[in-house]
Amino acid sequence: MNDLALLLTPEGRALLHEVRGTVPADELTVATRLRREHPAALVSAALGQARLRQRAAVKFGAEDAGRMFFTPHGVEQSTRTSVATYRAERLKALGVTSVADLCCGIGGDAIALARAGIRVLAVDRDPVTAGAARANAEALGLTDLVEVREADVTEVDTASYDAVFVDPARRGGRGRIFDPEAYSPPLSWAVRAALSAPHAALKVAPGIPHEAVPAEAEAEWVSDGGDVKEAVLWFGTEPGAVRATLLPGPRTLLSRGLPDPDVRPVGRYLYEPDGAVIRAHLVAEVAEQLDGGLLDATIAYLTADERHVTPYASAYEITDQLPFSVKKLKALLREREIGILTVKKRGSAVEPEELRRKALPKQRGPNSATVFMTRVAGAPTMLLGHPA
Ligand SMILES: C[S@@+](CC[C@H](N)C(=O)[O-])C[C@H]1O[C@@H](n2cnc3c(N)ncnc32)[C@H](O)[C@@H]1O
Repeated sequence: MNDLALLLTPEGRALLHEVRGTVPADELTVATRLRREHPAALVSAALGQARLRQRAAVKFGAEDAGRMFFTPHGVEQSTRTSVATYRAERLKALGVTSVADLCCGIGGDAIALARAGIRVLAVDRDPVTAGAARANAEALGLTDLVEVREADVTEVDTASYDAVFVDPARRGGRGRIFDPEAYSPPLSWAVRAALSAPHAALKVAPGIPHEAVPAEAEAEWVSDGGDVKEAVLWFGTEPGAVRATLLPGPRTLLSRGLPDPDVRPVGRYLYEPDGAVIRAHLVAEVAEQLDGGLLDATIAYLTADERHVTPYASAYEITDQLPFSVKKLKALLREREIGILTVKKRGSAVEPEELRRKALPKQRGPNSATVFMTRVAGAPTMLLGHPA
């Protein structure tokens, strides 16, 4: 019996309940005690699952994660609730009522789709992963809407579904895969599947080159809490559209195909665009909102004289501009009595940790600051400031 099958037995479920909340430091003691009454394999499966649930809480919230079943790959590859819910709501708004979730993993997306009231066929070829998806639909009371099938997605007939969603495996034996044709299944297969359905969404790595986006697709980059999580190719929406969506929200910025903003002198404010905006190449759209320009033609920092409030970029008030010199920075930090320094960089090879070690005075002052290590019109520059 595999670990998941052991855990789904009544004894396994009871043991899982008993070990919930066990912290790593106590694992050995807890394991020794439980092994007196339970098989060693079950005890180690339960403790392993408790650890996975704790890890998964960041994505799924402690309540759901505490009831769900995971595999190590399954936690890592799953879509977090915030992002999956946003996608499910978007599909629902398109009028979609049934989705073939091809490559369902442990069911991160399938759960959100079902919670949006969408009927889901969830397919994964890995037996344990499909088993976890099935157990999760059951644990969360979603079996009426979710059918889990253990199969190769390339052999599944999706003709009776309003939409297909494909989240291919992007990790090979040697870490992340960047070539979309090395995804499992390959992106070209997923695009063909997408084109044969009324609507489709394909999840891809945020680093996908814009040239690789098929002409029939809309491309959306999604960030959550400022971190870029994924890119999605949508079919059956607006071919050629490009958007950046920020969660929570959602706040969505659409491309208007603006040319790159002009380079201008450093103003009172520096704006750091959200990662989804940068990946979607929408810095010009944000620059227009801010009436701002670029610090350097090759770097995605914006500057403006006025403070504008926008969800698409974080604003910093700049107090000092210096040519790159650790010595000068050190003197300035001492003069300003700065003890906490946040280092941000674009277009600079500086190691933030090393810079902090070298530049912060031994006698730490009470103030905090942010330093941007970047280029201004080609020249290596340091801009000191603080969040506006
Ligand atoms: C990135 S994960 C999916 C995560 C899922 N969306 C979630 O939120 O939990 C990709 C999954 O695709 C499955 N997979 C890869 N190639 C497959 C194929 N040809 N047929 C079925 N499943 C496949 C893997 O087993 C893996 O579980």
